[in-house]
Amino acid sequence: MAHQKPFDPVVALSELDRRALAGGGAARVAKQHESGKLTARERIELLLDPGSFVEMDRLVTHRCHDFGMDAQKIPGDGVITGHGAIDGRKVFVFAQDFTVFGGSLSGAYAAKITKVMNLAMRVGAPVIGLNDSGGARIQEGVESLAGYADIFQANVLASGVVPQISAIMGPCAGGAVYSPALTDFIFMVEKTSYMFITGPDVIKTVTHEEVTKEDLGGARTHNERSGVAHFAAHDDAACLAMVRELLAYLPLNNHEDPPHRPSTDPVDREDPALDTLVPTDSNKPYDITGVITRVVDEDSFFEVQSAFAGNIVVGFARMGGHPVGIVANQPQVLAGCLDIDASVKAARFVRFCDAFNVPIVTFVDVPGFLPGTAQEYGGIIKHGAKLLYAYAEATVPKVTVITRKAYGGAYDVMASKHLRGDMNFAWPTAEIAVMGPDGAVNIVYRREIDRADDPVAAKAAFVDEYRRTFANPFKAAELGFIDEVITPRQTRARIARALWLLRDKRLQNPAKKHDNLPL
Ligand code: HXC
Repeated sequence: MAHQKPFDPVVALSELDRRALAGGGAARVAKQHESGKLTARERIELLLDPGSFVEMDRLVTHRCHDFGMDAQKIPGDGVITGHGAIDGRKVFVFAQDFTVFGGSLSGAYAAKITKVMNLAMRVGAPVIGLNDSGGARIQEGVESLAGYADIFQANVLASGVVPQISAIMGPCAGGAVYSPALTDFIFMVEKTSYMFITGPDVIKTVTHEEVTKEDLGGARTHNERSGVAHFAAHDDAACLAMVRELLAYLPLNNHEDPPHRPSTDPVDREDPALDTLVPTDSNKPYDITGVITRVVDEDSFFEVQSAFAGNIVVGFARMGGHPVGIVANQPQVLAGCLDIDASVKAARFVRFCDAFNVPIVTFVDVPGFLPGTAQEYGGIIKHGAKLLYAYAEATVPKVTVITRKAYGGAYDVMASKHLRGDMNFAWPTAEIAVMGPDGAVNIVYRREIDRADDPVAAKAAFVDEYRRTFANPFKAAELGFIDEVITPRQTRARIARALWLLRDKRLQNPAKKHDNLPL
């Protein structure tokens, strides 16, 4: 009988490790690099603090016996999972490995992902998913579909408990898109990533439309048109650096406050340039990001969804080193009107901030909701209600500054006193009224203007009277709906002081199973 070498588990382990680290093999790794993508392991290295990654389930393999799959088992099975640190703070990560069966998802692979998600929820740490996958593993059939559903379920349970971040770094198609869609933020890499429910071929067959993958579901499309994605990066490395940057504003879970970062920017810094930033002509646009960046800690503004619904600006920043969520109407785009896209964009952001204890600072310059049949038929009523709802239910500190227009329903919506705004400021240039002077005068004084010898002069006189009566912040301040009319240069100091006061704010909504946000 031939002498057999005794089984050595250490040798066996190193062989398994070698196979796991090799992934789908050198040729597929080269193909991945040629297509401008990093491998899953390279991505994890860039994402996490050096040397902090600890892999889990490296030896898990798929359980499929059909289609000759028994002979094709790669330790780890197409997804690398584990935990590590970003700026010394714990995070969980999964990275789909396109070099192994095209990153397609098997039952065992799904179980690896839900394992880290469940652990993340138990210990209160964010989950970051790096997506690069051909979707459901065809050889596994329904077992793969079940795996997706298990992930969706975990996404839903984790929502509002720990931040969930998705980076799309390759294909993400079919029902597989719904896991990223359930997470809080989606990053996409230009040219190499795409997301769609049905691809160009199916679309051509069914609707005869011809469209490229890039136009249908590339980074640009989802950042600019659909609003599905929140960030676009030039390449994998830039994408992962942005994920790290975002994490620096977020708490690890819903029981924590966001992380403080010491700042050298004095909280009582005055900025005289703010005094003249709003044009005297109230119909002239100006850039609200100029206000935001002058008010928040230097270089701390990190805009979210910058390419979508430009009429509202949202993003994270710091005040005195403490993260805040910024929401601001942008007079430069659609005069700052609220429309469907802007309402949904801001509502989701406000709800994220509220879920994760990030105070909200709102800058208001809004002439109202955008008129038009497209908006009405598209359901601006229910979509606008989302933003109203989000502000009304939010219990985090809410500080509001009206810089110019706050007209009509949009005045109420934008974190007004009436929706439990904690500290509501107005600049002297604020105009708080049911509508703008022109529209109001045309309705109220139509007959008088028509009858006047000089209708133009008559209208101008009525507009002037209306302006003096309503288009200013003093009536609202008289009623206590504005806590203080401040000079613009004091804005930073006032907001910082308000946030300091509100740090231990206690406010709870009535107990309920869950709300019924208008969808
Ligand atoms: C098993 C797959 C696979 C899959 C790719 N591969 N997708 N294996 N199941 N879904 C394998 C390929 O056989 C190939 O193996 C390797 O991965 C790389 O694939 P290529 O086609 O060579 O790569 P590329 O040309 O870059 O094309 C990538 C691709 C294409 C566009 C993703 O592979 C593709 O169309 N795959 C099928 C996509 C799909 O229809 N998935 C199901 C969607 S439905 P070798 O051995 O040659 O390297 C879905 C439902 C989710 O996902 C349900 C949620 C509810």
